[in-house]
Parts: sequence; C-alpha cells; structure tokens
Amino acid sequence: MAIRNIVKEGDPLLRKKSRPVEQIDEKIINLLDDMKETLAVAQGVGLAAPQVGILRRVIIVDTGDEILELINPEIIKQSGHQDSFEGCLSVPGIRGHVDRPKKVTIQGYDREGNLMEYKAQDFVATIFCHETDHLDGTLFIDKADRCGKDD
Ligand code: NI
Repeated sequence: MAIRNIVKEGDPLLRKKSRPVEQIDEKIINLLDDMKETLAVAQGVGLAAPQVGILRRVIIVDTGDEILELINPEIIKQSGHQDSFEGCLSVPGIRGHVDRPKKVTIQGYDREGNLMEYKAQDFVATIFCHETDHLDGTLFIDKADRCGKDD
C-alpha cells in the first residue's frame, strides 16, 4: 500500500468524467488499498479515485463504523433535503452549505465483484453524494452557497 498525492482544485483532472471500471483487476485492488491509506492519513471521511489522479469510477466512504468501497457506484434512490455543511480534501480550507438529499440508496460493486446496496441518511448520505459527484467532475463548491474559509 502507498499513500497517494491528493489532487487539488485547479487541476483539470478533477473536472473530468471518470470512466466505469470494466474489470476489477490488481490495479483496482491496489487503488482501493491506497485510497484507504490515503484517506486515513488525510483524516477525511470519503475519497474518490479522481482525487488521487485516477479517472475511474471508484469511491470509498467512511460511515463511522467501516470504510465502504464502491466500484461503479450509482445513487438509485434519493429523498428529502438537508443543508449539508461540507469540505473536501481537494479544496483545502474551504467549507460551504450544500442542499443534499436527506436519504439515499446507493449501489456499487465491492472488490470481489458483488453488487452491494447501502441505504444512508444525514451525514453518510452526504458523503455518498459528494464522492459520486467527484466521478462526474463536480465539486461541492459548484453547488454550495455561503462558502467561506474554514477557520
Ligand atoms: Ni471531495
């Protein structure tokens, strides 16, 4: 495992659409392991592959109980609204309020190729949305109002 460099806002990589994973090979497994290590060191709650410079549809999410790995994730259901106060490891020092769904259901493959489904609400629902947005080149600052310095 290795810690990867986190790409920062301003790098055009963060604005690109990531491609689906067609085969879960050693490269993808290594990517997942490295993303977990990178997230732990950065003390974040979620990470998307483009944030480490890899334009593949892979995210990890810390639910507080475990780190979920999702390959080709898709939010298949959402309901309600919440005012989410967010930051991003790729946009250091900035936080802002984003209108997010209150509840989401997400599907994605685990590293063994099993299709998994998770339901989440509140903070974890926000992480699922935030990380999935990264795969389409969207950052929270695009959706946020009242962005300000995080101090
Ligand atoms: Ni982010």
